[in-house]
Amino acid sequence: MRVLVVGAGATGGVLGARLVRAGVDVTFLVRQRRRQHLDDDGLVVVDTHGATALPVRAVTASDLTGTFDVVVLAVKEPSLDDALEGIEDALAPDGVVVPLLNGTEHVDRLRARFGARLLGGVMRVVATVDRAGRVVHLEPGVSVLLGELSGGGSARAQRVAERLTVDGLRVTAVDDIVDRMWAKWAFIVAAGVVTCLLRNNVGNIVAVPGGSDAVLGAISEAEAVVAAAGHPVQPDAHHAAVQMLTAEGSTFTSSLYRDVVAGRAGETEHLLGAFQTWARELDVATPRLDLALVQLRAAALAA
Ligand SMILES: NC(=O)c1ccc[n+]([C@@H]2O[C@H](COP(=O)([O-])OP(=O)(O)OC[C@H]3O[C@@H](n4cnc5c(N)ncnc54)[C@H](OP(=O)(O)O)[C@@H]3O)[C@@H](O)[C@H]2O)c1
Repeated sequence: MRVLVVGAGATGGVLGARLVRAGVDVTFLVRQRRRQHLDDDGLVVVDTHGATALPVRAVTASDLTGTFDVVVLAVKEPSLDDALEGIEDALAPDGVVVPLLNGTEHVDRLRARFGARLLGGVMRVVATVDRAGRVVHLEPGVSVLLGELSGGGSARAQRVAERLTVDGLRVTAVDDIVDRMWAKWAFIVAAGVVTCLLRNNVGNIVAVPGGSDAVLGAISEAEAVVAAAGHPVQPDAHHAAVQMLTAEGSTFTSSLYRDVVAGRAGETEHLLGAFQTWARELDVATPRLDLALVQLRAAALAA
């Protein structure tokens, strides 16, 4: 099985490194600067065990050849169209595309491009890229859910999940991937709202009076929107969100917040702006999200 990982940042780096270590045939599609970096230093992943440099195969769009059975999309939404330029030729006739982007707004665009070859995907990982270009895996654990966007199980989703499951990476085929994507979106919105608005990590937020209430309010608000959209968050996902966002001593922040702090172009509009549009259409009040968006958009103007 040949796997093309588009983007070698936080998600692509963590996932790709696990696959490469397990001996899977992986190619990273990257831009020139990242390629130079990977050629010179390898893919450096930092986790609780320290830093490991892994030799990897990286190509840019101009020297991408051959076809791939699985194309994993691991770029942020604003980069998606550029990153997909010419990618159809690299997809094997029975190959599949697995997007790991948070949110759901990219799905229709991708479906128009890849049709039935597109699966849905959710990646559970907390990672970032530091100034030295190292992929920093911030919290232990990494897993991926994938499945048919039309719902239900399929042999191909099962096969892809089994082939991508390697030591340290659990990939599971689920029959409700669209609901899982919405549930993850609700989590990301709640995490983004509290960490960006309160400009702190979860541990510090819940350590002060009113902190946990603020978090629980943000979770309820986000979950009300996805329920109104017809994708109610299941109790296990709700409890996991509450647990993660109210954990005492947790250093967790959202990737939205990490991007703001690092001054990187992020996914504010893709993740929060699009969610607000849904909320307005569905007539669900989102005062916390609205305030967070004012804060983030004003900060972007000032930058
Ligand atoms: N970080 C997390 O913990 C996490 C967890 C789950 C899901 N997600 C979601 O996963 C998606 C990706 O996020 P991320 O955190 O992995 O982002 P990231 O760390 O910024 O990585 C994205 C990578 O895409 C590359 N890229 C941009 N344009 C490209 C192009 N035209 N061709 C090839 N590569 C290109 C960037 O490379 P350059 O170095 O060239 O800029 C960058 O290395 C987002 O939707 C995010 O919300 C993130």
